Amino acid sequence: MFFSRLNTFLIYKFIFKFTNLTIMKLLYCTILYIIQPVFINKFLFPLSDPWQYYLSSAISGMLKVSNNMKQIDFLELVKKRQSVRCYSNKHVEKEKIDRCLEAGRLAPSACNAQPWSFIVVDDPELKNQVADLTADRLLPLNHFTKQAQVHIVIVIEKANLTSNLGSAIKDKFFPWIDIGIAAEHICLQATSEGLGTCILGWFKEKKIKKLLNVPDKKRIGLIITMGYPKKEEIRQKKRKALADIVHVNVYRR
Ligand SMILES: Cc1cc2nc3c(=O)[nH]c(=O)nc-3n(C[C@H](O)[C@H](O)[C@H](O)COP(=O)(O)O)c2cc1C
Repeated sequence: MFFSRLNTFLIYKFIFKFTNLTIMKLLYCTILYIIQPVFINKFLFPLSDPWQYYLSSAISGMLKVSNNMKQIDFLELVKKRQSVRCYSNKHVEKEKIDRCLEAGRLAPSACNAQPWSFIVVDDPELKNQVADLTADRLLPLNHFTKQAQVHIVIVIEKANLTSNLGSAIKDKFFPWIDIGIAAEHICLQATSEGLGTCILGWFKEKKIKKLLNVPDKKRIGLIITMGYPKKEEIRQKKRKALADIVHVNVYRR
């Protein structure tokens, strides 16, 4: 019984990775949760109770599919992401960092300009030097950054012509908005990987540029600290109430 469940689960996972089609999902679900369990139980594990398994796996399989179709747990991920300012010294796997960077790469940007590049600072000594340049000597700001195993430094790159035109005409510098979105993509992916992050806007930009060989005329927009959180606890979010920030149809003065 255990092996047939495992088998069903693995094949289910494998196939679902490669298809998004609802009909296909239902078809696979029928095969995997109805036909296959019966087959396995009847011929490989004849002493188990195939019909009981047949019913329970069919129902749970269908429920899983309909839940998948309705929503993904995005809001749960958003609630889980928080600024982490206390890290363990556990090594952060390269594959995880790569997936975070991929999430950043796929972020939307004005006119698809993608005006960013990401410097992954994972060399411990260099990372600590960057961390020192994020901490303020007088204010209690960013004194935790050395604990993070990785710093991702977001450099603002040249946008394309249309984005620049839009920025000028509409008096909004889109690249700063763009890198904010990319940064949050990175942080959300990191959260889904079990990693903690903190976006930093406060740091000694000139000195970090010099340290990391970033050309003088470019800007470093943000730095993201990344590592395994020391504590599991998810804090209650302190946010304004929806009623205070949402206007329906017209702006309420
Ligand atoms: C653009 C930006 C700059 C930030 N700069 C810093 C920073 O320099 N140091 C810091 O500790 N947190 C910084 N934060 C994190 C915010 O303080 C944090 O996101 C906010 O308080 C909400 O808390 P949460 O992220 O835990 O939900 C920054 C966040 C953003 C979006």
